[in-house]
Amino acid sequence: MFQNLCGKDKTYCNLYDGGWVSASSNAYTDIFSPVDGSLMGKVPAMTRDDVDRAVRNAKENLPIWAETPIHERARVFYQAAELLEAHATEIAQILTMEIAKDEKSSVYEVKRTADFLRYTADVGKSIAGEAISGDNFPGGSKHKISYVNRVPLGTVLAISPFNYPINLSISKLAPALIGGNTVLLKPATQGAISALYLASIMQEAGLPRGVLNTITGRGSEIGDYIVTHPGIDFINFTGSTEVGRHIAKLAAMVPLMLELGGKDAAIVLPDADMDFAADNIISGAYAYAGQRCTAVKRILAQDDVADQLVPRLLARVTNLKVGDPRDNAVIVPLINTHAADFVMSLIDDAIAKGAKVIAGGKRNGNLVEPTLIDHVTTEMRLAWEEPFGPVLPILRVKDTQEAIDIANQSEYGLQSSVFTNNLHDAFFIANQLEVGTVQINNKTERGPDHFPFLGIKASGMGTQGVKYAIEAMTRPKAVVFNLDDHTH
Ligand code: NAP
Ligand code: G3P
Repeated sequence: MFQNLCGKDKTYCNLYDGGWVSASSNAYTDIFSPVDGSLMGKVPAMTRDDVDRAVRNAKENLPIWAETPIHERARVFYQAAELLEAHATEIAQILTMEIAKDEKSSVYEVKRTADFLRYTADVGKSIAGEAISGDNFPGGSKHKISYVNRVPLGTVLAISPFNYPINLSISKLAPALIGGNTVLLKPATQGAISALYLASIMQEAGLPRGVLNTITGRGSEIGDYIVTHPGIDFINFTGSTEVGRHIAKLAAMVPLMLELGGKDAAIVLPDADMDFAADNIISGAYAYAGQRCTAVKRILAQDDVADQLVPRLLARVTNLKVGDPRDNAVIVPLINTHAADFVMSLIDDAIAKGAKVIAGGKRNGNLVEPTLIDHVTTEMRLAWEEPFGPVLPILRVKDTQEAIDIANQSEYGLQSSVFTNNLHDAFFIANQLEVGTVQINNKTERGPDHFPFLGIKASGMGTQGVKYAIEAMTRPKAVVFNLDDHTH
């Protein structure tokens, strides 16, 4: 089934023009598992010439795909969804070993991707144009009619992060492809093998040659060249704010969609159900060891609320399963040593400045204990920086307005949660929070995937979510008929 094993020793290849190719330099990057350090395989380190060739090929095949009826594009998506589900266990095992995601979440990512494909196919088939009569504008005439359709932008560069190498690749590929674009996929290096399996599924499902090409290679080495390639018509990026800002500076006139970092706050009001809030906050903060952009990354609460939450949170944190993702541990080794070092630097800074460790605070290799820290102040880095790891700070505030103010002082603006039984208070707070989404009585999260998903400020530009992403990667094309009005 999976054609991208182009050698006996787990050597992977890139999808190019319907076939599988190595880098022209024959250079590779070894992919080691963060679970047990084993060598999972090697992926090509594509060169600038390889990028030129892949972009040229995508552009050559754009007219064919743009002219392919949407219902035929949709058929490929339905078939790809079937194949994903048929191979869910196999692909999930790759995911688990490549990014140390627990097996349950890995299977869920694959199945969520199949659902994404089906839903995108359905929505794609309802893309409709419009006909506008000229006479509904002063001076206009019924004899002037604008026929408006949506057309693809061209070749889309999709860049995905390590934590959802399949789902956050398809969240770009599917809307782009159903809109008639061709796509170049540059997956995260740690996650590239999983992404190549997805590409193999799309090819197997009948995607015509050259409509999707993949480019593996370290972003630090080949990223700038791809981003600034003149053949790219749209850049759809998910990853860190640092890299997102860098890409935005390079992109010049190329339209962008950026889904970046977050520092999602959970604001808990005195009337909230504390056990319900604790359940949601723990799940939101520690799933996949906190390696989610939408993880709950700080609690803002008044003293009396925090005093009720701490014992409840502690009881739940100590129950979190720690260890091997193959045993469905929630707290798993972080993606690499750099990530673990960074998380520990935030913890150490908070402790040095007087914060109180309630649970955790230590590491074993790249596995950081689930850490809960109380009395975190705005003087500490942990109050503002994104750990992307299993550490949750509690900031005590004097009232609701201070909670809102501190939430809004973050450079980030992805999501926030508000826990209260008073919907008036919930809406009052939600209306003031400077974020893309406010969750009322729920953990912060992206799904369901047809909802608009966006970050503002340092959390991104543009809106994901099936319908919104299709709109972002297509444009109106107007043809105005100036009919003879027989008046002359
Ligand atoms: P990252 O280090 O920014 O990398 C993201 C992607 O960008 C990877 O494919 C990476 O390739 C590539 N890249 C790196 N430098 C590049 C360059 N100069 N030009 C083009 N591409 C380049 O992020 P990550 O570590 O994968 O993911 C964690 C971060 O992403 C966190 O900050 C998290 O909050 C954010 N994130 C946000 C969302 C969201 O929806 N808002 C979702 C997931 C993650 P390499 O892997 O080869 O370096
Ligand atoms: O970090 C990935 C981001 O997209 C979160 O997705 O579904 O875990 O909230 P989710």
